[in-house]
Amino acid sequence: MSEWKQVAKVGDLRPGDVIAVEVAGIPMVLGLDGDRYFAMQRQCVHRGGDLTDGIVSRGHVICPNHGWRFSTATGRHAEASDVCLVTYAVRVVGEHIEIDPVPRTLQGPS
Ligand code: FES
Repeated sequence: MSEWKQVAKVGDLRPGDVIAVEVAGIPMVLGLDGDRYFAMQRQCVHRGGDLTDGIVSRGHVICPNHGWRFSTATGRHAEASDVCLVTYAVRVVGEHIEIDPVPRTLQGPS
């Protein structure tokens, strides 16, 4: 069951931005990849890098610590598909950006 929570407003993010948000006590990042919002766990699965400081490039968010690249669409590592971040669904309702804190993808092998 979805539990949509408002986290930001349209216009709060520019393309390439990644911001920290917390939904239902879960630390996440909300980002804007081109014209598509994405949400995923805030901590990198490698060594806990904070993806709030990540760089969005070519459909991926790049961890600031060691450069691992994760798909903004699926959370999967660019070179190791068995490594994955938890992602969350994002929607825009009017001027509001909402996240459903129910995990959309889970860590681990596909
Ligand atoms: S902590 Fe993210 S790549 Fe190492």
